[in-house]
Parts: sequence; C-alpha cells; structure tokens
Amino acid sequence: MNEFDTNLAAGLLRKGGHSIVEEQDEADVILFNTCSVRQHAEDRVFNQLAQLKAAKKQKPDLLIGVMGCMVENYKTKFFIDYPQVDLLIGTRSISELPKVLEKARAERRQVIELAKTGFGYELYEMPRLEGKMQAYLPIMTGCDKVCSFCVVPYVRGREISRPLREVVDEVRRLAEQGIKHVTLLGQNVNSYNGTLASVIASPAIGRDEAISEQRLLRRPEGPPRNDGHGDVTFPDLLDALCEIDGIEKIGFTTSHPSDATEELYRVIARNPKISRRFHLPLQSGSDFILGRMKRDHTLTEYRKKIDLMRELIPDVAVTTDIIVGFPGETEEDYEATKKALADIQFDGAFIFKYSPRPHTAAARWDDKTPAEEKNRRNNQLLQIQREITRRKNQTLLGETVKVMVEDMSKRSREEVLARTWQEKKVVFKGTPEMIGSLQTVKLTSVTDETFRAEVA
Ligand code: 5AD
Ligand code: SF4
Repeated sequence: MNEFDTNLAAGLLRKGGHSIVEEQDEADVILFNTCSVRQHAEDRVFNQLAQLKAAKKQKPDLLIGVMGCMVENYKTKFFIDYPQVDLLIGTRSISELPKVLEKARAERRQVIELAKTGFGYELYEMPRLEGKMQAYLPIMTGCDKVCSFCVVPYVRGREISRPLREVVDEVRRLAEQGIKHVTLLGQNVNSYNGTLASVIASPAIGRDEAISEQRLLRRPEGPPRNDGHGDVTFPDLLDALCEIDGIEKIGFTTSHPSDATEELYRVIARNPKISRRFHLPLQSGSDFILGRMKRDHTLTEYRKKIDLMRELIPDVAVTTDIIVGFPGETEEDYEATKKALADIQFDGAFIFKYSPRPHTAAARWDDKTPAEEKNRRNNQLLQIQREITRRKNQTLLGETVKVMVEDMSKRSREEVLARTWQEKKVVFKGTPEMIGSLQTVKLTSVTDETFRAEVA
C-alpha cells in the first residue's frame, strides 16, 4: 500500500512538472510517506525529520512534507514538534498533494490536508505504467475490524470499496498498457463489498448498461445476496477480473481470517490466473491472546480454514503474520504460538514484536514483556519458521512449475528473476525479452528462499 501511494504521489508530482532526483541535496522538496503500524517505522521518520532541520537552515526554500498514516496519527502536532515541516497530507488526500505543495510554497506557510471519506484519488489519476509488467491496484481502503493492537482503523478510517465497474475498467486499462500481473490491495481485501455503483450512483445510465454491468458478475440474474454482504463480494470481483484478456496473474493482499470463506477458496481453485499465495495473519496461537486481540476466531477455527483451503486449493502456499509479546502473553501463550507454527507449517511468516500504538485498546494494557524477552521470542520464531520454509522448499526441488518472469536478475545479466504462482523467487538463464512472459521451469536448487531452475 505504501509503495502504491508513493508511486501515485510521485506520478502526480511528475505530471505537475516536478522531477524526482537521486540525491537529497539536489531536492527542493522532500516528502516522507509514512507507516504507523509499529513505533519503529515512526521513529525512523522522526529521526530523519530531526536531521533535516539543519538542511533547512542552509536552504530556507526547501519544503518538507509528510504523507501517510503518521499524518493521521499526529495531525497538526507535527507542526508543533517539527516546525521544519511545511506540508501534511492525510491518507485520503493524496491527489491534493500538488495543490498543497503549491500553496505551501506560494504562501510560505504550513498546510495540512486531511479528508475523512473517499479514496482521495480517482483510479484514472494513477500514473501510466508503460514498460512495467506488474501493477498494484487498491480495491478497498480502511478497516472496520477492531483488533486491539492495531492503529489502522484509526489512521485509515472506515472501510470503503471501489465499485466493481471501476475496478474492472482499470484492470482493462492496465492490461492495455502491457500489465500482466495485478496485485489487489486493501487493508482487508476479502471483506471487499463493492456495488454495481454506476447503476445506483448515476440514474443517467440506461437499462442496457445496467444489464451489461450485471454481466460482469458470473451470477447474472441471481437475487440480491442476503448473507450480510453487499452486491459484489471479493470472490465475485476475482471472477470478473479473471475474464480480462492480457492479465495473466492476479494476487491480493491482505486478508482477515473472518472473511476467508469456502466460496473464496473455490473461486481461487477454479481460476488458474489467481496467485497461489494466500497471506492469512494468525497473530497468535493462543486462544486467550486471540481473544484479547479481538481477532474474532480461535486457533481451531483458523486451523479449519487452512485445512479447507489446502483441500480445495492443493497447490496453495499459506503465509502469515505473528506478533510476540502482546500484553498478557505468558510463556504458555508463547509456546502455543510456537506449536501452531510447527503444526500449520506455513510457507513463510512475518514475526513482529508487539509495539503499543496510540488510539488502540491494547495501548491501555500493561506491556510487561521485557524487550529482551520479546527479542528472544521473535528470534526463536524466526529461526523455527526459517527451518520450516527451508524444508518445504527442499521438497519442491525437481518439480516443474509455471513462473512469470519479472525482471533481470540483479546478480547476472544472463539470468532472469521470476516468481512461481506461490510467489517464490526463481532465477534461471534468460534474456530481457522474457520479462512479462510465462515460462515452465524445473527447480534445481534453492538457497535463502531463492530457487535456481532450468527452462523445461
Ligand atoms: N505491534 C506489532 N505488530 C503489529 N501489527 C499490527 N499492529 C501491530 C502492533 N501494534 C502487525 C500485524 C499485522 C501486520 C501488518 O503488522 O501482525 O498483521
Ligand atoms: Fe488492523 Fe488488520 Fe485487524 Fe484491520 S483486520 S484492525 S488492519 S490487524
């Protein structure tokens, strides 16, 4: 999401006549796109802002801006603590960036732009991606869940989804630009709840168009759903996108277990274009901690979802997120997480040390686990997972798999970098013309999660 927002901001500025420079000294404007999920990411921004104070003294015309979640988190407090900051752009105001920048420059005063609703930009504002083969596409933003450790609902606001028609049109446009691989983005993509909005939003649309809109769905004349979802669910959206010519691969991130349903697994299973990596954060293996995290499921319920997913999509690779040292996590709770990793055998896991966040329920609870203990748990889980990933990857050697070539290898001009449908990295002999193509390769060896292969 950050990468997408950064590219969008850069694209909007380029369109406005600005250019991107390599060295900080050459810049007239320095913008930080920020993340608030953990304190560590915020500290890095605070440190860099502090360092820029001197740069600004030397070059008084230098403009410094902050965008992203930290702006929502601290709002105008930034201007008080860091008077060197000139502009602040909230998560739903990205398209205002050129205007705000101009205002800060012309009026020589601090400017903040914070919107409460909407996406903050239209999809057609996305910079064109000629020459690229992969694109990110936000289909929803915000989060209506209430995980007690998480600042996202505060900084990203309530969930909203792009209408089906808009997403389909945008993916068609991306395909026309040569994009082969689309990654759908959202804090919680699988609770996507779009509308056939142009029908609803615009009475000007005629009946024929309304019918063609209905046809974007695979269940054309079906009655409206009554399962608590809107008109168009995430599985519906995936089905519709898989029909688009030119798009070879569709991935998505990230998901919450509550919205990982059998229907979704079935749609993935029947559409070979959909990536076979499913990232499904577990956070903890202890039911007590899951309850305190307000994750809305037990370990057993999660396990059942994974079992069903693996049954229906046999080639799926499941990855996860884990937090260690959540308030109240005892040694026993931690052991339960260790056991869950060993039992479930994920293909990969991101392990995080709990970081108290403002505006969250858990921030009011005692964070008693000492830093060294969080470090110990973090390192131990990393090691356990590394070994599981290594063993799982070993079992793939000798297999022939479909890959999409993404780039030239960084190490060698004679080799290309590709990814399997499980999003595992593969390097093999190839040429620049191969970028964007599908290849069938035989996996021959693996080091540090990167496979070597031969074209089959
Ligand atoms: N502390 C540590 N990790 C966190 N995450 C979210 N909030 C926190 C926090 N306060 C992790 C979760 C989530 C991932 C994106 O970041 O594991 O899935
Ligand atoms: Fe945060 Fe994800 Fe929970 Fe939403 S579902 S509150 S983004 S952890």
